[in-house]
Amino acid sequence: MLKGFLDLLVAPVLLVWPRRGLEQQTTDLLLRRFCSGGRNVLFFKSGRSALSAVCEGLSRTLPGCQVLVPDYICNVVPRAVTRAGLKASTYATNERFEPDEDGLQARLTDPTVGAVVLASLFGADNTSAARVEWIRRVRPDVFIVLDDCQNLVLNRPVPADPRTVVVFSFNGKTIHGAMGGGVVFDGTTLGLEPPARDWRRDLRLEIAVCMVVLKQCWERGAGRLQRLRGCRRWKPPSLEYSHAAGRIHYDMDVQRIAKVSLVRALLELRRAPRTEACRKDQFAALRAFLERTGAGDLIPTECPERAPFVPVKLRDASLLTRLPWKGPYAVEGDPTRSLRPDVVCFKNVGVEQGLFGSAEGSERAGGGGREMIQDGAGRMPAPHRMSTAAGRMPAPQRVSREAGKMPAPSRPAVVRASCLHGPPPLTTQQALL
Ligand SMILES: Cc1ncc(COP(=O)(O)O)c(C=O)c1O
Repeated sequence: MLKGFLDLLVAPVLLVWPRRGLEQQTTDLLLRRFCSGGRNVLFFKSGRSALSAVCEGLSRTLPGCQVLVPDYICNVVPRAVTRAGLKASTYATNERFEPDEDGLQARLTDPTVGAVVLASLFGADNTSAARVEWIRRVRPDVFIVLDDCQNLVLNRPVPADPRTVVVFSFNGKTIHGAMGGGVVFDGTTLGLEPPARDWRRDLRLEIAVCMVVLKQCWERGAGRLQRLRGCRRWKPPSLEYSHAAGRIHYDMDVQRIAKVSLVRALLELRRAPRTEACRKDQFAALRAFLERTGAGDLIPTECPERAPFVPVKLRDASLLTRLPWKGPYAVEGDPTRSLRPDVVCFKNVGVEQGLFGSAEGSERAGGGGREMIQDGAGRMPAPHRMSTAAGRMPAPQRVSREAGKMPAPSRPAVVRASCLHGPPPLTTQQALL
């Protein structure tokens, strides 16, 4: 409460501060406490915008090269590659969202591969110095893009390597925020350029991000009210797919960060130790809750307690509306299909929300959940419908609304069922075959 009040006092002062001063402060904070070893920071309007800038730089240096991306990832990542005129090809990842090292090694020996994207998803530590060293031993000349959009954590060393860049995001992942992102690098030889100024577009972005902040305030207020009344509910997750078009703050264009995003990020970066501690507590509570109730299994990753999204194979459908979840990623180019349709992620936002007491409370009270996964005839769906071989979702409407102007899911019951842990899931490699 007090922290929200202080923010309200500080934010207007920061908003009238010159942009250059704000960028300098945020850069200092990032390099001192988050990305030690990096020397330069460029800010962009979002993580995807920063990825686009990196890929454009790559395309100037190595036109038309092949870029290796993980097979299971947010679809804006391969999209940034193809948008810059490069060829995105996927490498296999395992159950724990880590690269399959043999497969990746074989792919790296292809001389047309100019860059590889490593991403730390859901607490997997794929962007560590050890992983970078391993890649360097296989291919000393390849560019390495470390996608840490979900992993902007405290005290994370950035490799002192001119061919490696780190991309981060302030868009409600490790660090809360209202859009915004950037790149940390150590004098990279990649033709990376700072975003151009365009006051008209920049003003449009500021307005759009202000709307995002207002929406966040509204949602937070409504959530608190529901919590007080003991009836907190979330929308069930759908497949995550971003059309990355339409609204200015979600498109893939290279553009500088909105000042509102910068101010929000600065405030949240300062609060990171508290956020991290709270995330750890919430993770322990989630683990204990799942163990006690048998409602699902955590998917083990390297450091899930710090991750903003904790992967779970869920068994109890009623939890889909009683806790906040992120749906499985859809495949780029096919919003109805996912390689891991059985994986949902608990959104560990790093704010105390008293979630597990209330989830259990409604469990004891009957919860009203299980019937949600019944089909039209009132039966529980057969296991094969929960996770089909192709990982397909049944209808095209099941697309993240964040993606733009998609209609609300028309048959959400089936969507809920699709996220459940049915028969043994396919590995991402099997699903690719
Ligand atoms: C791994 C990864 N990279 C990049 C992005 C894009 O970040 P942003 O939402 O800031 O555009 C996301 C978004 O969820 C992501 O999960």
